[in-house]
Amino acid sequence: MSTQPRDHTAYFTFRDQLLGPLRTTVLSSQQLCEAGRLIYGHADGLSLYGIPATDMVAKGIALLGRTVIECSIDAYTAPVADALAELQAATPPQGPDADNPLIADLFCGSGNFGYHLGRRLTRPVHAAELDPAVFGTARNNLDRIGSTITLTLTDYRDLLRELPARSTHDTYVVEPPWGPAFSAAGLDLTRTSPPVPEILADIRRSRGGLPCHVAIKANDQIAHDSLARSFSGARHLATITPAPCLPHGANMDFHLYELQG
Ligand SMILES: C[S@@+](CC[C@H](N)C(=O)[O-])C[C@H]1O[C@@H](n2cnc3c(N)ncnc32)[C@H](O)[C@@H]1O
Repeated sequence: MSTQPRDHTAYFTFRDQLLGPLRTTVLSSQQLCEAGRLIYGHADGLSLYGIPATDMVAKGIALLGRTVIECSIDAYTAPVADALAELQAATPPQGPDADNPLIADLFCGSGNFGYHLGRRLTRPVHAAELDPAVFGTARNNLDRIGSTITLTLTDYRDLLRELPARSTHDTYVVEPPWGPAFSAAGLDLTRTSPPVPEILADIRRSRGGLPCHVAIKANDQIAHDSLARSFSGARHLATITPAPCLPHGANMDFHLYELQG
C-alpha cells in the first residue's frame, strides 16, 4: 500500500468525471485501478464480490462510472454483515415466517451490499435497480460470480409490494443516490433521491406492523441532524465506521436500526 500523501483534488476531479461523462460508461481496468487508488489509497481498495480492481476485468466484472462512486466495497459491507449477524443471533425472531427472514437490497447498484448480507446470514436476497444501465452490469456481475440474488429492474416501491413481511429479522438495505444531498455542509438524508424518511415510511407501510432491521450508508458529516431525524422513533443498533480514506465529510459510515412496525 502506498504511503505517499494522497492528492484529494485528483479524487474530487475523478469523482466528477465518474458521476458525469463516465456515468454510464463501463470502466477499463486502468480506470478501476485509478479509482481504487484515488478513493481508497490503493488499487485493490476497490474490491467488490471478493474481487479486487486488478482482477475485475479478467473475471468479467463490469462497473459503470457512477457505480464505482456509489458502491459499498467489500471492506465496508463485510463488517456490517458481521455486526448484523451478531445482533440477530442474540435476538429470537418473531413473525409469520420468523425463521425465514428476507433481505431486500432496495437500491442495488453493484449488488455488493446484498451479496455480503446474503452470504453472511445465509439468506435469499431480493434486489431492485431502476437504472437499466446499472441493472445490466449488476446482472452481468452477479451471473459471473454465481450469485443467487433475485434482481429486478424496477422501482424499490414495487419490490416492497412483492415482499410481505416475514420476520422481525427481515433486513432492508437503504442506499439511495445522494446527488445534491451531498454538499460541503455534509450529507442531508432528507434530500437524497428519494428522501430517506420517505423510503422508511414505504418500508413500514409494507410490513403490516412487524418491526424489521435497516442497514443504511451515510457519511462522516451529517447535515441538519438528518440521520437522527430520518430515524426518529427507530432504535439505533450499531454504527460501523471504516477507517477514513478521504477528507472529513467524504468518508462512508454505516448504521443499523430496528424500525418499529
Ligand atoms: C448509491 S447506489 C447503491 C449502491 C449499492 N448499495 C452498491 O453497493 O453498489 C443507488 C442505486 O439506486 C438506484 N435507484 C435510484 N432510484 C431507485 C429506485 N426508485 N428504485 C430502485 N433503484 C433506484 C440507482 O440507479 C443506483 O444504482
